[in-house]
Amino acid sequence: MNTKPFVYGMSVEGEHFTDRELETKRLKLNFENGINSILISPRRMGKTSLVKKVMGMIDDAQLKVVYMDIYKCRTEFDFYDKFASTIIKATATKLDTMVENAKKFITSITPKISFSPDLNADFTLSLGIDKNRNSAEEILNLPEKIAQERGIHIVVCIDEFQQIGEIPNSISVQRAMRSVWQHQQNVSYCLFGSKQHLMANIFYSRKMPFYQFGDMFFLKRIPTDKWVPFITLRFAQTGKRISDKLAENICVTVENYSAYVQQLAWNVLAVSGERVTNESFNDGLEATLAQVIPLFVEQTANLTTYQLNLLRAIVAGTHRDFGKKKTTSVYELGTRSNIPKIIKALTEREIIETNENGIFIADPLFKLWFKREMM
Ligand SMILES: Nc1ncnc2c1ncn2[C@@H]1O[C@H](COP(=O)(O)OP(=O)(O)OP(=O)(O)O)[C@@H](O)[C@H]1O
Ligand SMILES: [Mg+2]
Repeated sequence: MNTKPFVYGMSVEGEHFTDRELETKRLKLNFENGINSILISPRRMGKTSLVKKVMGMIDDAQLKVVYMDIYKCRTEFDFYDKFASTIIKATATKLDTMVENAKKFITSITPKISFSPDLNADFTLSLGIDKNRNSAEEILNLPEKIAQERGIHIVVCIDEFQQIGEIPNSISVQRAMRSVWQHQQNVSYCLFGSKQHLMANIFYSRKMPFYQFGDMFFLKRIPTDKWVPFITLRFAQTGKRISDKLAENICVTVENYSAYVQQLAWNVLAVSGERVTNESFNDGLEATLAQVIPLFVEQTANLTTYQLNLLRAIVAGTHRDFGKKKTTSVYELGTRSNIPKIIKALTEREIIETNENGIFIADPLFKLWFKREMM
């Protein structure tokens, strides 16, 4: 079986990965030099893929990179459990040293290893960390203790880090993390996630514990001139031909959002013959929209008229100063003082996003659909 020409539901590597040369270099340098990194981008732009790529490039027995995804952590102790077990798993060289290490570095726990019935699958290490017996500080210090003992440097990569902003007592947990982590000599952190408003809350405000914790970068869109050769090559490998113009069209239509570029390219490929025509491009686009529209319908089902009107104003080209007569005479938005509330609600739903140029629709296909159906 051939490998899939386009992949869009998971992080990508190898031939499915393109560009990101600068970001790769910078992140690798940070890993090698013990510099903390913070990586933010809109959803599905390629954070996980980038971090995993850099992890795969590190070839140094003295430098151990550990990856964890904390999306499912709902409480402080969920997080400590994930944090500790991932680090123990990744730093033990043999299975039987794992339990030993766990006991050595964390007090009063009863570690258990369990295997899933599928032999190829991973095993689970459960530590039984308990808030009555274990302290936050002890767990947060675990990588430093291991790094010291083994004479190595550890980079801890935490994916979906925005979840930390959502747990109960979030700020005091963040304070504890920062105060322990900033003193560690042999451990550095790479914290990344989407939901920009949540990541921004954690990292952008002077008042917050993680303010200026590390080298912060915002993952930009992969430019069209990098995408076009990638797309045309992938088509060619399946024996089909797409013009540069139509490959460019794929990028423009989805505003270079990484996952959408691959999803649209796949749908165009699926419906086209040997040569991609304008018709097959359009059919591919309709197929893509059909896959995402149910989600948009659900996202907008409970919006108020004012909220919908603000979206209409944005789609029509207004990106700031919504309170001005020019806008309110066309789009009823309620009282002036109501506008920030509308913006907040739509931001929390991740439908809109604020950047230095104003407020924009977060998802390019949402915008396309909204323009067609809701204006
Ligand atoms: N460097 C890349 N080259 C080509 N495609 C990419 C690249 N990075 C991301 N993609 C596309 O975007 C999709 C999502 O990538 P990834 O999961 O790394 O993004 P993410 O920012 O971590 O997403 P999420 O916000 O869901 O965590 C991939 O499946 C792929 O289609
Ligand atoms: Mg990700």
